Amino acid sequence: MNPLNHVAIIMDGNGRWGLKYKNSRNAGHKAGLKTVEKIIKETLKNKIKFLTLYAFSTENWKRPKKEVKYLFDLLETFLVNRIEDLNNQNIKLKIIGIKNFSKKLNKLLIFCEKKTAKNNKLQINLALNYGSKTELINAFKLLSKNKEKINIKNITKYLQTKKIPDPDVLIRTGNTKRLSNFLLWQLAYSEIFFEKKLWPAFNEKDYNKIIKNFKNIKRNFGSIS
Ligand code: IPE
Ligand code: IPE
Ligand code: MG
Repeated sequence: MNPLNHVAIIMDGNGRWGLKYKNSRNAGHKAGLKTVEKIIKETLKNKIKFLTLYAFSTENWKRPKKEVKYLFDLLETFLVNRIEDLNNQNIKLKIIGIKNFSKKLNKLLIFCEKKTAKNNKLQINLALNYGSKTELINAFKLLSKNKEKINIKNITKYLQTKKIPDPDVLIRTGNTKRLSNFLLWQLAYSEIFFEKKLWPAFNEKDYNKIIKNFKNIKRNFGSIS
């Protein structure tokens, strides 16, 4: 049975779900947050140490201002209401991506990271204004500035995921089979599960089914044994 340390998720399909059931994309984002709560609980139950959630990509700024605002307001409310409880559950929150939001939100994100920094039951990496290409470019820039050798170890140390093991599992909901600029380096050997359900419809049962399937996969990492 494969050990499972890190699950990464591209939480896709909120907009379509919202339009279908509530005639509003934003209602889909709100419903998607409920799935986030469910999946955090189930991740704890499964004793998984790292959960990385793709919440907003560097390309998502192309969306209408109103939708972007709704997403960040939702995030703000979520953190304000839930950070105490997450902290009590020994959960560490880390943001990956560039924090160039409103002053208020930047401050809140840093506050949440600091508050939970010493927790060690589960680390949640929230990918916010995250793009893998930007992350890699920044790593190469630092290597060149510090005149360091280009090798796996050095590149890894300048990624925002340094100290985080690569994901064992990647899940993408929403019936789309692409990576959308998510963890391109880190996913080199991850087991990938594309899920037809839209994110708000994804549930504990679906998640556990994927976990169970993952555990029985023969992982080779290039070898044949
Ligand atoms: C994913 O759902 C959430 C974010 C990108 C913030 P979408 O909003 O992309 O939902 P669809 O893919 O349009 O249905
Ligand atoms: C990926 O979903 C980003 C997040 C889930 C945050 P998108 O909906 O932005 O991806 P594309 O544009 O369909 O590739
Ligand atoms: Mg989408």
